[in-house]
Amino acid sequence: MRRKLPIVVLAVVVALATAGVAAATNGGLTPVQPESPNARHTVTAYWVIVGFTAVIFFLVEGLLVVFIWKYRGRGRGRDVEGPQVHGHARLELIWTVIPVLILCAIGTVVFLELPKIDSAPASTNALHVTVEGHQFYWQFDYPNGARSINTLYVPAGRVVELDVIATDVIHSWWIPALGGKIQAIPGRVNHTWFGPTPPGTYEGQCAELCGIYHASMNARVVAEPATAFSTFFAGRNAANLGKQEWQGVCATCHGNLGQGGYGPNIAANSLLTQEAGLRTILRYGVNGSTGAMPPVGDTWTSAQLKALVAYVKKNIYKGPPAGGANGG
Ligand code: CUA
Repeated sequence: MRRKLPIVVLAVVVALATAGVAAATNGGLTPVQPESPNARHTVTAYWVIVGFTAVIFFLVEGLLVVFIWKYRGRGRGRDVEGPQVHGHARLELIWTVIPVLILCAIGTVVFLELPKIDSAPASTNALHVTVEGHQFYWQFDYPNGARSINTLYVPAGRVVELDVIATDVIHSWWIPALGGKIQAIPGRVNHTWFGPTPPGTYEGQCAELCGIYHASMNARVVAEPATAFSTFFAGRNAANLGKQEWQGVCATCHGNLGQGGYGPNIAANSLLTQEAGLRTILRYGVNGSTGAMPPVGDTWTSAQLKALVAYVKKNIYKGPPAGGANGG
């Protein structure tokens, strides 16, 4: 019984440690289905490396089992050494040369794939978007002045080039189906790209621990057919922007209805309806005796603030009606 206990404990620990991986889609072994050329080239490099390492793994583990069986004690005394083997020049040469060749093969594949992962294909109609990481949301700036929060709208079938920046701490832009991670670093502009993609919704997640709500810093790319995208692009989506700001920025700390959470209850706070006061708080943050709030809207435009105030007044504010003609 005592000898079996460590084995049982080990089995339980291994089962717990690997449960998450096993529960993941496709067994956690493979990357998600790539939907952009750069992601496809990353997956190619991945499979080449998995191929080599799988063969080596089974070869080494198989030989290990064979040797354990072949050179077992056979009743020999515990302190008696088995037959010793010394030096085998040809064998040693083989197991030095083969790994060198494997590394050369992997290196060749990776260096052939890298440029195709790194550089966007030449395109005359690429869409350029600035991706701004904030605690704890993503803001997207489109060439015509439109903005969106947490959801990046793009035209399907076109290349999208991204300038990735941050205003507070380091975040990491990552939509697995559309390519690798790229860090959003304050004071620096990083570049990445994806597309052309088929129409669809591609989910992602900030991949750099950036603070208490890092885990809820989700991102989503919605690739729309050309007409749907032009409607969004032309309309600037003002009504939707206020909702996105509330849900993607304010609600993270203050709750979906402003009922409070990590941040205080603000559902009845008349400041919600005062554009000027709200602007100051969002631009500069609060650092008072009752708590701190980061300057989440330090890069927001007036239109953006107005969109938030309009949405909040209509859908969130539960206090007494704002007084007077200029109350809003
Ligand atoms: Cu932003 Cu983690």
